[in-house]
Amino acid sequence: TYVVTDACVKCKYTDCVDVCPVDCFREGPNFLVIDPDECIDCTLCVAECPVEAIYAEDDVPAQMHDFIALNAELAKTWPAIIEKKEPLDDHAAWANVSGKIDKIER
Ligand code: SF4
Ligand code: F3S
Repeated sequence: TYVVTDACVKCKYTDCVDVCPVDCFREGPNFLVIDPDECIDCTLCVAECPVEAIYAEDDVPAQMHDFIALNAELAKTWPAIIEKKEPLDDHAAWANVSGKIDKIER
C-alpha cells in the first residue's frame, strides 16, 4: 500500500485524489490518508503530490514510520475525497515544515 506522510499536514494540495483509480483517499480537516485496504499500488499518486508526501509503505523514511499505522487508523472513519479542491489557506507556510504529526486534526 501507499502512505501519506508529514508533508501533507496543514497543506492538503489534493492533486493526488484526481488520479487514484480506486478512490481510496480519505479526508480529514488538515490531512489526507490512503485506505490500505483499497490501495492497489498503482503508484500514480506519488508524482502528483507537489510536496512529495506519498511513499510506498516499504519506503517510508524511519522518522515518519508512525504515519503507516495512522493512515490505516484514520481511513476507518474519514470520508472519501474523489475530486481535487483548493489547498488549505496557509499551505505555503507549512509546505516545508517537518514534524507535523501532532498538528493533525481529527
Ligand atoms: Fe490510489 Fe494508486 Fe495512490 Fe494507491 S498508489 S492511493 S491506488 S493512486
Ligand atoms: Fe496531501 Fe500531496 Fe495529496 S499534499 S492531499 S498527499 S497531493
